[in-house]
Amino acid sequence: MYAQTSREVLNFIQHSPSCFHAVAEMARMLEQAGYQKLRESQPWSLTKGGKYYTTRNGSSIIAFHVGEELDNYHFQITASHSDSPSYKVKEKAELKGKGGYLQLNTEGYGGMICASWLDRPLSLAGRVLVRQGNRITARLLNIDRDLLLIPNVAIHMNREVNSGMKFNQQVDMLPLFSAGACGENSYRELIAQELGAQPEDVVGSDLYLYPRVAPSVWGAQEEFISSPRLDDLQCAYTSLKAFLQGENPHGVNVFSCFDNEEVGSGTKQGALSTFLRDVLQRIHTSLGYGVDEYCCAVAKSFMVSCDNAHAVHPNHPEKTDAENCVYMNQGIVVKFSANQKYTTDGISAAIFVQLCKDAQVPVQTFANRSDMAGGSTLGNLSTQQVSLHTVDVGLPQLAMHSAYETAGVKDSAYMVQALTAFYSTDLKITDSDEFILD
Ligand code: CO
Repeated sequence: MYAQTSREVLNFIQHSPSCFHAVAEMARMLEQAGYQKLRESQPWSLTKGGKYYTTRNGSSIIAFHVGEELDNYHFQITASHSDSPSYKVKEKAELKGKGGYLQLNTEGYGGMICASWLDRPLSLAGRVLVRQGNRITARLLNIDRDLLLIPNVAIHMNREVNSGMKFNQQVDMLPLFSAGACGENSYRELIAQELGAQPEDVVGSDLYLYPRVAPSVWGAQEEFISSPRLDDLQCAYTSLKAFLQGENPHGVNVFSCFDNEEVGSGTKQGALSTFLRDVLQRIHTSLGYGVDEYCCAVAKSFMVSCDNAHAVHPNHPEKTDAENCVYMNQGIVVKFSANQKYTTDGISAAIFVQLCKDAQVPVQTFANRSDMAGGSTLGNLSTQQVSLHTVDVGLPQLAMHSAYETAGVKDSAYMVQALTAFYSTDLKITDSDEFILD
């Protein structure tokens, strides 16, 4: 039963080679469950009991389920991210090398572990803008074959390769595209051909490299899963699944998944943008409530910010705090940070841990070593636009930001179980004084 959810996660990730594909896949799941698409550019007229979703930039998505018996309502929200570290192809994409070599000119997106991208088949996925007459349309593109590779330098030419390697993104990390069989403009021609368009009609693109390696369930007792993009598509899928299963007639359940977490979230569709705030306000006014009631609703609301966490590394246990450290297959991680890089505080931890207890889901606590900065995530950024009680949680994993990450086979199911309970519980929050889990 545990493994089944993880297999679903891996299947979802395989269908999501880019953030655009991930959002399209989530939209498909929502449509299948009867959710109606709303456009941000058109007026909304919502009804109690209604199920809706909307997207921004094709790379962020928010879905919500309005309770049937709203009265004095509030929001219960999860947030995750759709993007992962990768390489983006530059506008002038081709680099000619010696002997007919053709490379793609790329730059880093987010903070990847460079070495993990070497010597493995890669391809391209993302969004392409195609012109037809006076109309420009956004199209998804996934070139579904082994297309590119970033080769290592042989050890005989770099004897230092095993004593600490410094990677230069403009030199070491460029993918090889052709050994001489292709002429100038062949990159654009390939993109056009894939879309059944003319090369001159390809007028824009956001295309990223992705590793072709297939996900795997492995280990002596099949305890592990490995795949590209577990951070954060494992949380995106499990929170969406929970959202689709949960039911709270007295509140508005909200699922959100944002692009650009890996580059600081400060884009029109990122967690720092107005996207969530705009959607919540539109839900609110469309249901006929006033401004003062919006503040009441937000004050009583709760967010679970879901992003993967660092499990203790088998070779480097010293990298984590001695006690506030987490292990794969041992449950959901609640993340703490005194400097509030994670939003969790006494209140949000108490509420979330109680929810997990009631749902019989194991919980672990994480804090960075006090002499290590650690990473950051979504919750502390989205709260700048919509300020509400928030807890930062995640699933334990190894090798975060590697092209091939590893997590526990059991934990996906724990997340679905806990968040289904979250979406099915009517939280009654009175400021920072009293909390009832109904
Ligand atoms: Co993440």
